[in-house]
Amino acid sequence: MPDLSGKVAIVTGCASGIGAATVRRLRADGAQVLGTDLAKDAGRLLAEETGVSFAQQDVGERAAWPAIVAQALSSYGRLDILVNNAGMVGGSSIAETNDEAWDRVLAVNLTGTMAGCRAAISAMIANPGGATGSIINIGSTTALTPLPNDIAYSASKAAVLNMSKGIATWCARQGYAIRCNTVIPGATDTGILAKGDADMPGFKAVAARMSPMNRLADPTETAAAIAFLASDECRFMTGADLLVDGGALAIHPGL
Ligand SMILES: NC(=O)c1ccc[n+]([C@@H]2O[C@H](COP(=O)([O-])OP(=O)(O)OC[C@H]3O[C@@H](n4cnc5c(N)ncnc54)[C@H](O)[C@@H]3O)[C@@H](O)[C@H]2O)c1
Repeated sequence: MPDLSGKVAIVTGCASGIGAATVRRLRADGAQVLGTDLAKDAGRLLAEETGVSFAQQDVGERAAWPAIVAQALSSYGRLDILVNNAGMVGGSSIAETNDEAWDRVLAVNLTGTMAGCRAAISAMIANPGGATGSIINIGSTTALTPLPNDIAYSASKAAVLNMSKGIATWCARQGYAIRCNTVIPGATDTGILAKGDADMPGFKAVAARMSPMNRLADPTETAAAIAFLASDECRFMTGADLLVDGGALAIHPGL
């Protein structure tokens, strides 16, 4: 298990799915955690259960990000880890996409991730003992193989992959030991897939078949990869995309 003792983390979208599994995992590995989510009641419940702090946040409200980072600093004195996990689907093809839906998906998935990175990096630069930190952004296999019926989601995740590499190389060239990597989950058994299944019965089974393992990921399996990237064990990893997709993208398309 990675040792995260003494480290302080912010995890967005902490109230369910991959975010909740990540909070539990980072706590188990020794980190102090500030979890944030739009969903106040579920976020508070998780915080009570796991002994972490909680703040209600809409990650798409970029002006609110400095206050979230300030809360972590005032509670714990430093910031070592940011997991930009909160995300939403759009569910529209190019023909159906309206401006409002497009703007909201991009604001949450892409602009929210950018604003989180920006606020976190300014705190990480000022960490006692020197500029250190690890940012883990959550992508999606749809960043590489888009969903024709969700172009906003797929495009936002593709941009997250690209942006993460730009952030990683900028930090490294400044001489900061601040890393930025992307975890790319495949189909994972969480609220997003449950919503897909409710909208289109059978969706979960189709999603499971995308992996040659013929199953969905459990969110704890994604959280394990996030904890690894958060730790100092992978201190030479930055600008990387770590696939946690059960081999879904390893197979020739259509086979
Ligand atoms: N489940 C999958 O198959 C899958 C696959 C690839 C990528 N992902 C990504 O994993 C991440 C986590 O999703 P999940 O699968 O755990 O889904 P989930 O629906 O279980 O959890 C998402 C959480 O984010 C929160 N959230 C949504 N919009 C927010 C906002 N604007 N501000 C703050 N919180 C917000 C929700 O309240 C929820 O608690 C997302 O970025 C998603 O795109 C999921």
